[in-house]
Amino acid sequence: MRVLCALLLYVTAVLGSEVRIPLFMQTLGQNEKTPLATLIYDPELSFVEIVDINDSFKEGSYCVGAQMAENYYSCFSYLNLRHPLHYDLYLDTSHNTHLLYKLSLKPNLKTKGIQPLLRAPVAGPEAQVTKLKKTTKTYEDKKAMSNPSAASLGEDVEIDDRSFLQKNWKFILIGLVLYAVSSAGNSAQ
Ligand SMILES: *[C@@H]1O[C@H](CO)[C@@H](O)[C@H](O)[C@H]1NC(C)=O
Repeated sequence: MRVLCALLLYVTAVLGSEVRIPLFMQTLGQNEKTPLATLIYDPELSFVEIVDINDSFKEGSYCVGAQMAENYYSCFSYLNLRHPLHYDLYLDTSHNTHLLYKLSLKPNLKTKGIQPLLRAPVAGPEAQVTKLKKTTKTYEDKKAMSNPSAASLGEDVEIDDRSFLQKNWKFILIGLVLYAVSSAGNSAQ
């Protein structure tokens, strides 16, 4: 099922020219197209209107398509159409040219009929750039590195290949000093 097919609608933005886009409903797997409504869009004035709504269709699941000049976009939305109609028709337009590039029909219980809504692209949230933590690799990680698919990604990777004694000599030394101090205290008593 194609939920939203990328719909490239090239609307010639001639000053003050409005485009009439007939919308059709189609049962999946059937060729018969039933008129649903007509969308009037003026890219220059950012004007949209829905006219000629068909109020006598049979309820069911339909592909909704649009006739744009010579091209028919058969299924920009696939949804269950019911009476009374309460749907939003989103018109995605490019920011500068206001050309229509996508349509989508969505149920909205708060609206009556079919409500056309113009949408301009909004900038998405930008991911923060943070430096990765310095990681110390163990023998296990090194083993995994020989298998590139299992290797983990990191920055400033340091491979720790020192022996147990090299890594822990400080703790061993502290232990020895404490032992020497306590035994010296015992012998002094
Ligand atoms: C409305 O839809 C029905 C089928 O569901 C169709 O027979 C009828 O012709 C349509 N009406 C208009 C005005 O297009």
